[in-house]
Amino acid sequence: MLDNHEIRSQFPFFSHSDFIYLDNGATTQKPQCVIDALCHFYNFNNANVHRGVSQLASNTTQMYEQVRSKLATHCAVKPDQIVWTKGATEAINLVVSSIDKHIEPNDIIVVSALEHHANLVPWQELCKRTGAELRVLPINQQGVLNITASLNMISSLKPKLVAVTHASNALGNILPIEQLIDAAKNVNAITLVDGAQAMQHLKPNLDTLNSDFYVLSAHKMFGPTGVGALIAKPHSLALLDTYQTGGEMIEQVSFSSSQYRQGNARFEAGTPNIAGVIGFGAALDFLNSEAMNLQRSYEESLYQYTIEQLKKIDGVTLYGDLENNIGTVSFNYKDEHHLDVATLLDQSGIVVRSGNHCTQPLMNLLGVAGTIRVSLSCYNSYEDIDKFIFALKQAIELLD
Ligand SMILES: Cc1ncc(COP(=O)(O)O)c(C=O)c1O
Repeated sequence: MLDNHEIRSQFPFFSHSDFIYLDNGATTQKPQCVIDALCHFYNFNNANVHRGVSQLASNTTQMYEQVRSKLATHCAVKPDQIVWTKGATEAINLVVSSIDKHIEPNDIIVVSALEHHANLVPWQELCKRTGAELRVLPINQQGVLNITASLNMISSLKPKLVAVTHASNALGNILPIEQLIDAAKNVNAITLVDGAQAMQHLKPNLDTLNSDFYVLSAHKMFGPTGVGALIAKPHSLALLDTYQTGGEMIEQVSFSSSQYRQGNARFEAGTPNIAGVIGFGAALDFLNSEAMNLQRSYEESLYQYTIEQLKKIDGVTLYGDLENNIGTVSFNYKDEHHLDVATLLDQSGIVVRSGNHCTQPLMNLLGVAGTIRVSLSCYNSYEDIDKFIFALKQAIELLD
């Protein structure tokens, strides 16, 4: 069993605040090691990367590149498969903005009904530009992907591109992405997996996953905001046109033309978020520390406990796949507006998210305006859940 007290003690937020923080799908709290790494960088190592020849600049470049290697090891890929971005949204936009030449009018692009707007709206824009058509993998009434229909859809539609989330931010469902990606690859589709939610909980092996692209955000993995990554095999990166131009990504420049660098360097124009990347390195150390060995089983038990407690309350409707889940509970109470319930919870110091969770089409399919979302992480305790349930019962007394 994971030592929840020991984990929690690494997060200063919990000693400074009485909030019961259950909004980890939005962003995670930061362990002391991440905060220290950020401060240490600005106190002692501040220099730009990849340009100066000074000892200071070389050391900083080395520290920065070591994090690329660390993330590569974490995901079982090679460092040159990582392009730093400012988050998952930018990583998806990078691909969408650079892939036009492979998309023709009437081509089909497939997403799932569970996508965050970040993995939906950019593809809509691509369809507008190219004349391609967007099709959506279906879910059932609880919000669970219909895998048989989805696989059939992929093999019969033969899409040019399939972009699916690894785990739903709104409902927590873990999607069978290996099956989806294999089906997509069988019809030679280009594939992208949105790992923004999954990366914190599942530590996927991206070497064995046959996807062209995988995206993540550091701030949902205990790291700083403003850092993310596009992870892609070299032949997949080669599919993309250049995204942004300027310093750093060039080999040679004259007034009449420029030559760009090859591989991942071609996509990293300008000064990156150096402090953020270094802070992310500390977050990866935390994620891979011995204390976190049993993270997944702990979060699974805490999730089961949470849904058991909620099921005992008459009038609660739970959404999503309750069997395969990263630890995110989405629910409503009777016909009460999600915002009313969340506001009452907030008054008791319980931090949850309410609303459509940037998945408006999904909420429409579920027939609700929104839900209340409790998204768990390793530092949440059983006591947190008891306090949440107590506050929810109080809220219900007021609402009934
Ligand atoms: C599944 C999913 N994809 C993409 C994003 C976008 O991430 P970011 O805002 O960090 O770019 C989020 C953010 O909540 C998400 O949950």
